[in-house]
Amino acid sequence: MKAQLEAMRKTAEEKIAASKNRDDLESLRIAYLGKKGELTAILKQMGSLSADERPKMGQLANEVRSAIEKKITEFAEKYKEAEKRERLALETIDVTMPGKDMTEGHKHPLSIVLDEVKDIFIGMGFQIATGPEVELDYYNFEALNIPKGHPARDTQDTFYITENVLLRTQTSPMQIRYMEQHKPPIRILAPGRVFRSDAADATHSPLFHQIEGLVVDKGITMGDLKACLETLAKGLFGESTRIRLRPHHFPFTEPSCEVDVSCFRCGGTGCSMCKGEGWIEILGAGMVHPQVLRNGGIDPEVYSGFAFGVGLERIVLSRFRIDDIRLLYENDVRFLSQF
Ligand code: PHE
Repeated sequence: MKAQLEAMRKTAEEKIAASKNRDDLESLRIAYLGKKGELTAILKQMGSLSADERPKMGQLANEVRSAIEKKITEFAEKYKEAEKRERLALETIDVTMPGKDMTEGHKHPLSIVLDEVKDIFIGMGFQIATGPEVELDYYNFEALNIPKGHPARDTQDTFYITENVLLRTQTSPMQIRYMEQHKPPIRILAPGRVFRSDAADATHSPLFHQIEGLVVDKGITMGDLKACLETLAKGLFGESTRIRLRPHHFPFTEPSCEVDVSCFRCGGTGCSMCKGEGWIEILGAGMVHPQVLRNGGIDPEVYSGFAFGVGLERIVLSRFRIDDIRLLYENDVRFLSQF
């Protein structure tokens, strides 16, 4: 039995030395030291030994077991190291390899112009205000002097959600919302998305953007409105730009006007951009109607104000000479990267 144990130790150690990886080691461990392995098989003969030989053989068997275990562990460590080195070699980064080209992001043309308009008004002490796109009929129409059945509703094809909830058709509801929450002096710019159920074509989109302006204080006049809009026009289109106020009607301003800027391409002589007019319409405006002030909780006997609503797309299209409004919403990077 002693010879058997010695021989087993020798072959086991040789085989371990000849192994190639950790899988080989595991099979060898099972073959020699496992429950059904060679060592167990040899130990089964213990019963036939004499009482004084038994402990000696037991001790030898233990020595053989730990010798084999030690050898297996030693080789396992070696293979682990080798595997690690191999992995590290695979993960090596070639720092001299050329990188991938990164394309630079661009501001969307709508954002370019909106940011310019914001800068111009922030420079005049305006605050930026925002409000909900899903709006109550009350703020979008009722409080702006447009009761149910008023013909002005027909011109703003409205997406209704329920009878009293809709997608705002203009940013003017922000006038009421802001006046309800703030006392004069008020000077705000409220940009945002508006919605009208128009079919999309080169000049219409069911979603577009407006920029609302509202100023309320003691002694505000139409002269203040004009100066303010002149500053906007010159800031956007250049110092030589002139503006023109044409009488108009909005239910929530009185008097009301539409505002044109002198064509920045031809300077006013007439060209294809202004369709020979020399002028381009960019916004609606007027003095805030006394009832609208009242609806916002402000006394029209003490305060007056002006308001205006700029169509952002209108300015962007003419400014960048874009001939189809849909290009602004398609997010085609070939288009966007030109700005
Ligand atoms: N809300 C108006 C529109 O959508 C524009 C406007 C705003 C007119 C403020 C006057 C004052 O046409």
